[in-house]
Amino acid sequence: MAERVIPLADHRYLAAVPQVPVHAVAPTGSVGDLLGRPLHDLRISVTDRCNFRCGYCMPREVFDKHYEFLPHASLLSFEEIARLARLFVAHGVAKIRLTGGEPLLRKDLDRLVAMLAQLRTPQGAPLDLTLTTNGSVLARKARALKDAGLQRITVSLDAIDDATFRRMNDADFPAADVLAGIEEAARVGLGPIKVNMVVKRGTNDDQILPMARHFKGSGIVLRFIEYMDVGATNGWRMEEVLPSSELIARLQQTYALEPLAASAAGETAERWRYADGSGEIGVISSVTHAFCRDCNRARLSTEGKLFLCLFASHGHDLRALLRGGRSDAEIAAAIGWIWQGRDDRYSELRGAADASAPGSGERRVEMHYIGG
Ligand code: GTP
Ligand code: 5AD
Ligand code: SF4
Ligand code: SF4
Repeated sequence: MAERVIPLADHRYLAAVPQVPVHAVAPTGSVGDLLGRPLHDLRISVTDRCNFRCGYCMPREVFDKHYEFLPHASLLSFEEIARLARLFVAHGVAKIRLTGGEPLLRKDLDRLVAMLAQLRTPQGAPLDLTLTTNGSVLARKARALKDAGLQRITVSLDAIDDATFRRMNDADFPAADVLAGIEEAARVGLGPIKVNMVVKRGTNDDQILPMARHFKGSGIVLRFIEYMDVGATNGWRMEEVLPSSELIARLQQTYALEPLAASAAGETAERWRYADGSGEIGVISSVTHAFCRDCNRARLSTEGKLFLCLFASHGHDLRALLRGGRSDAEIAAAIGWIWQGRDDRYSELRGAADASAPGSGERRVEMHYIGG
């Protein structure tokens, strides 16, 4: 399918206005891509801004006061987001994750949560509705999010040691405040709570054991993430990746761990449990053990571009359809058509042969823009 590439002023990444198929086929509740992968998980970025400057995501040298974030008029409104979400759900999306940047910086986010909480799958079930946050304002917002219908939450935390954490977020933000946010989220019932820790060898790998010790037995699932070569600004080097196999071996020197079976198809994390029954941990091995084979995740950027892979270099401009007066049936048909043409599997290809990585000559999306 040929797409018309229309350059627009606020286009930071390449994007094309999707083609609307002439014979629109109504969504069936299940659509497969070229590798047979269903569309199951939609990640919606609600802002490209963040109050942290984690070096692996928004290094301060690049994201300084001169950096131009998206202007307000470019953002999808909550009504536009909810409309698109409903059409994705008609195609089989059963899980929605709000991301950023830092999603809790978007004003009145609980209003969007309330709108999304009303959606039902074609079978009539509510969605798995969740959010990834850096936790900085979570203590203040947890109750309103819960009341609006958010089910659970995932908090990023890269160290338990305060000095290391302040260095990692490069905003001098204290670890204690994030921990207070996690506590409040647990108190209001936003569970099961997950904590994500990106591990950089030589920067915070000394925090693996203290983090495990802190969360063991708490009911919170700690997940260790391999530092990824996402975007183009973080100066990624393989030497700074700590392979999950090495991480598990290190933990096993202190704790007996047993592998667990996957709980859902296409899951990012491999799960392990403490042999003494005090909970589970996960490892996300995007670099050393790619999980593209079952990747069922679509990503919607803050200004309404659909990306089919975290490492994509171009998106599909759904906002142009929304604002161009297209009907629900037309937009749903376009989404189905785009997904049916998807063959992205960046991490797998990178693992197989570096040079064949798709779009390697084009600018890839940044994590703060598309969300984790
Ligand atoms: P749960 O449903 O709670 O298990 O969440 P999840 O693991 O699907 O999502 P989460 O946002 O917690 O993902 C954790 C991290 O895994 C992200 O921050 C990314 O670093 C990485 N990740 C998530 N999805 C993908 C993906 O599709 N590809 C790659 N390469 N990495 C991903
Ligand atoms: N590598 C791995 N994970 C990353 N994230 C952002 N940048 C990277 C990267 N380079 C993820 C982290 C963080 C979430 C918001 O995005 O999990 O917690
Ligand atoms: Fe902000 Fe999360 Fe990126 Fe850190 S990883 S800069 S908290 S969006
Ligand atoms: Fe999915 Fe792309 Fe990540 Fe592979 S690299 S798991 S295709 S988002």
